[in-house]
Amino acid sequence: MASSSSPSSSSRSELPLRKIPGDYGLPFFGPIGDRYDYFYNQGRDEFFKTRMQKYHSTVFRANMPPGPFISSDSKVVVLLDAVSFPILFDSSKVEKRNVLDGTFMPSTDLTGGYRVLAFLDPSEPKHDLLKRFSFSLLASRHRDFIPVFRSGLPDLFTTIEDDVSSKGKANFNDIADDMYFNYVFRLICGNDPSDAKIRSEGPNIFSKWLFLQLSPLMTLGLSMLPNFIEDLLLHTFPLPPFLVKSDYNKLYKAFYESASSVLDEGERMGLKRDEACHNLVFLAGFSTFGGMKVLFPALIKWVGLAGEKLHRELADEIRTVVKAEGGVTFAALDKMALTKSVVYEALRIEPPVPFQYGKAREDMVIHSHDAAFEIKKGEMIFGYQTFATKDPKVFENPEEFVAHRFMGEGEKMLKYVYWSNGRETDNPTAENKQCAGKDLVVLISKLMLVEIFLRYDTFEVESGTMLLGSSVLFKSLTKTSYT
Ligand code: HEM
Repeated sequence: MASSSSPSSSSRSELPLRKIPGDYGLPFFGPIGDRYDYFYNQGRDEFFKTRMQKYHSTVFRANMPPGPFISSDSKVVVLLDAVSFPILFDSSKVEKRNVLDGTFMPSTDLTGGYRVLAFLDPSEPKHDLLKRFSFSLLASRHRDFIPVFRSGLPDLFTTIEDDVSSKGKANFNDIADDMYFNYVFRLICGNDPSDAKIRSEGPNIFSKWLFLQLSPLMTLGLSMLPNFIEDLLLHTFPLPPFLVKSDYNKLYKAFYESASSVLDEGERMGLKRDEACHNLVFLAGFSTFGGMKVLFPALIKWVGLAGEKLHRELADEIRTVVKAEGGVTFAALDKMALTKSVVYEALRIEPPVPFQYGKAREDMVIHSHDAAFEIKKGEMIFGYQTFATKDPKVFENPEEFVAHRFMGEGEKMLKYVYWSNGRETDNPTAENKQCAGKDLVVLISKLMLVEIFLRYDTFEVESGTMLLGSSVLFKSLTKTSYT
């Protein structure tokens, strides 16, 4: 197993201390230069790869976008290996205050004037309260997880089939937004929006609101838009929140009216009703809707590209278990070892949220596979997860999608799967910053595969990249004769 070459924690303390290589360049020009390399001259993965090779190190210094004038300090220590990365999960070592999006924080005007949960450090008392609020919401909806998700899938796949037969292809990313919105609204509120207009406008409003928050980290990839214009529009000044204010208020109102029982519980726990509701909108729009927008295209892309042999194996497993268990239940999903492994492998090879940040709380020494590095109190640490979970010293054939990777003995490697801002073997708590919806995310990923292979024997896709993730076009779907 590739992991045998990583040092144990006792041998790590004997690693040579090395000065962190790399520099930040001149003020202003250094960050802009790195920003152009990251978005335009090299692209994201090449940006990290070339520096890793140049410095012969998976730990080095660089500026992370956006830089001037959106972030006042873009200097970070980059971590690219599986050993150094988990320092970012240790709340006693790193501060997570306002670092959700990196070296800048979007205006709180986009979240009702509140710093919502994901921006709070666990040392802030509100973090504990809001995280427990999110756990209580999930616990109260547990019974709905499966039926509510499954109820949205027939419409989704009917639209995909119609587009494939009429246009020869179906754009999954565009089509799926409605399903995500309906799912998250029904999951959180327990019912559909009473105002039908919100149902049709909701997905676009959430997408626009997400764009306003995350545009400093995006490139549109439009060939007719010169790079320097895009850079000026997206990466130099924050887009003004008023562009989405009235739309956001419509969504806020819809959640406020429909989620009464959840908000009652929030008040009972000690939250103000409006603060609880702004947090719900964030949970719905950023964490869940935004998360699904990157999660599912990547999952479907990797499974689609893996081809017919894997499709046959998945279909066999899923149909056999569903038949034996008498339906799609929690117990049935738990028995699908290959389906589970495929979900974890997709989360490993293309983590939906690949950037993690934290500020050193104190002077400390961190370790990569082959060296130790000193980090000073107050320095920003940044982990690029796409490289950390494809660390060749931990995973064999890390660039390959190995569907069976996490089956049997392979389950031991789950501790190196970091997508949830924590190890897959750990659990979210009120004291850490791990995704509160971790188990739900794995569950709905499995449900998506179950639905696909109960309906189809195989399917073909074409994939590309867009904004912050993958894009997927369905090219064909072969309906099953299985009943
Ligand atoms: C759908 C796909 C999802 C993905 C890819 C995802 C991913 C993540 C990640 C990476 C973080 C850590 C952010 C950071 O601090 O660096 C996070 C935090 C969080 N997620 Fe998720 N998430 C998803 C869905 C959900 C769902 C369904 C819920 C609950 C309804 C949820 C609730 C949360 C909460 C409350 C936090 C903040 C935790 C804290 O601040 O302590 N997420 N999520």
